[in-house]
Amino acid sequence: MTHIFLYGPPGTGKSTIGKKLSASLKLPFIDLDRVIETNAGMSIPQIMEQQGETTFRDMEATALSALTMERESVIALGGGALLRDENRALAESHGKVLLLMADLPLLLERLRNETGKRPLLAGDLNSKLKSLLDKRKSHYDSFPLKLQVDARSAEHNSYRARVVLGRHHLSAMREYDVMVDQVSNLPSLQPSIIVTDENVAKYHLEKIQTIFNAKSVVVPAGEEYKNLETVSRLWKGFLENGLDRKSTVVALGGGVIGDMTGFAAATYMRGIDWVVVPTSLLSMVDASLGGKTGFDLPEGKNLVGSFHPPKLVIADPGLLLTLPERELRSGMAEVVKHGVISDPGLFELASQGMSWVKDHLEEVVKRAMAVKIKVIEEDPYEKGIRAALNLGHTVGHAVELVSKFKLSHGEAISIGMAAEAKYAARVGLTGQSTVDAIVSTLSTLGLPIQIPDEMPREEIIRVMRVDKKKNAKSIRFALPVEIGKVELVNVDDLESVLDDGR
Ligand SMILES: NC(=O)c1ccc[n+]([C@@H]2O[C@H](COP(=O)([O-])OP(=O)(O)OC[C@H]3O[C@@H](n4cnc5c(N)ncnc54)[C@H](O)[C@@H]3O)[C@@H](O)[C@H]2O)c1
Repeated sequence: MTHIFLYGPPGTGKSTIGKKLSASLKLPFIDLDRVIETNAGMSIPQIMEQQGETTFRDMEATALSALTMERESVIALGGGALLRDENRALAESHGKVLLLMADLPLLLERLRNETGKRPLLAGDLNSKLKSLLDKRKSHYDSFPLKLQVDARSAEHNSYRARVVLGRHHLSAMREYDVMVDQVSNLPSLQPSIIVTDENVAKYHLEKIQTIFNAKSVVVPAGEEYKNLETVSRLWKGFLENGLDRKSTVVALGGGVIGDMTGFAAATYMRGIDWVVVPTSLLSMVDASLGGKTGFDLPEGKNLVGSFHPPKLVIADPGLLLTLPERELRSGMAEVVKHGVISDPGLFELASQGMSWVKDHLEEVVKRAMAVKIKVIEEDPYEKGIRAALNLGHTVGHAVELVSKFKLSHGEAISIGMAAEAKYAARVGLTGQSTVDAIVSTLSTLGLPIQIPDEMPREEIIRVMRVDKKKNAKSIRFALPVEIGKVELVNVDDLESVLDDGR
């Protein structure tokens, strides 16, 4: 059971944010204090006054213990509910505890009208609250997941809570959950088969097979195998293993495995369910989200595909520990892209370089995936703003293909982003400082920023036109305006975009 517990000092908005959070995650909301009051048949001030704090804490422990056995929920806890070690252990073993914190003036403002409801703060609110916060400082500090609540709306703080928790419920195209969690926390899933590639199988297949108790189809690794032949192998594998319309397939791997498994699932028996366990950084923050599936033709990438969102995405950053360094860097190109599109803070973090990234993988995954989720929820079928995610991809895809995949996807996107940013500056859409920031962050991460000299530019332009699935003279680019903002622009003069990429 993976409940979400909201915890922290009085006034942080555990109930208000909790209600918004539960509505957006489509989970029930429970306020522990209200449950205690119902059980006791009296209000919390009455319990405290008539029976004392110890009895109240006992009631709290009993109510909490009962709730952990119920179905998954968002649970707002009282401000001291986890002071007892056994309560904390109970909550932490049944879900995630998010500690809400806020500055003292904000807490005071919110609590001023409520002192009658909060017996521990009766009297001089200012000094009572300060001393309560002092007393519990090390206790509150010890919770690893924290959100500094600000004065903006509960809706906004609930969104920030989802980012910190790595929990989202998407409703575009179909309803499904996205969670950043250990795969082992999801034993109730019963897939029929796991699809993976030879590299990932070496490190992770046995463990995942044990968790899901399922057979597997293992295919060769790499973009050059993202083709119809491999998709056919998957269809055959599904047939040989007796999969029917009710079966669920797990895609365990990077973007290549995700795209092909999703496509095979979309088309097998006119569509079966699939779950994705992304194993590369790129697939955690990008490829596994949004329901685009497909494979390449010799003429271009992703030329055949369909929209078929998975039923669940479980991103376990622990799986990234076996990812080769080059692939991790490659994933960082998409992270930088997401920063440039709409999260300047994430861009700033990425600019700290690979050793910071390696120490903060979970944070990087959570923040970068949140950008993509926001965009695809707004525009699932790419009628408008979703095209922003193509930043760096128009040049990038072409360069990737012309390199015959010697450049990884992320490396190619990095080159594409640098070229497109320079072009944006040349046409006056952005300033040189934006270009410098993008180029320097990509270089700090060890990513390439120049189109290789030996690469024929006519070939890149030809591939760009095929890749964009049209032969029109102009191509629509997503170009940076500033860090955190991009604009969609039609470009005729493709040559000059490439000039800037050298
Ligand atoms: N569907 C979408 O919306 C979308 C978005 C972006 C990219 N993509 C696609 O994603 C693909 C690129 O994804 P990718 O970079 O993950 O490529 P990939 O799937 O080829 O993985 C990269 C390499 O890392 C290995 N690997 C993956 N996870 C590993 C792990 N945990 N430990 C050890 N090795 C591991 C793989 O075997 C492979 O060799 C491209 O085909 C691209 O078109 C799709």
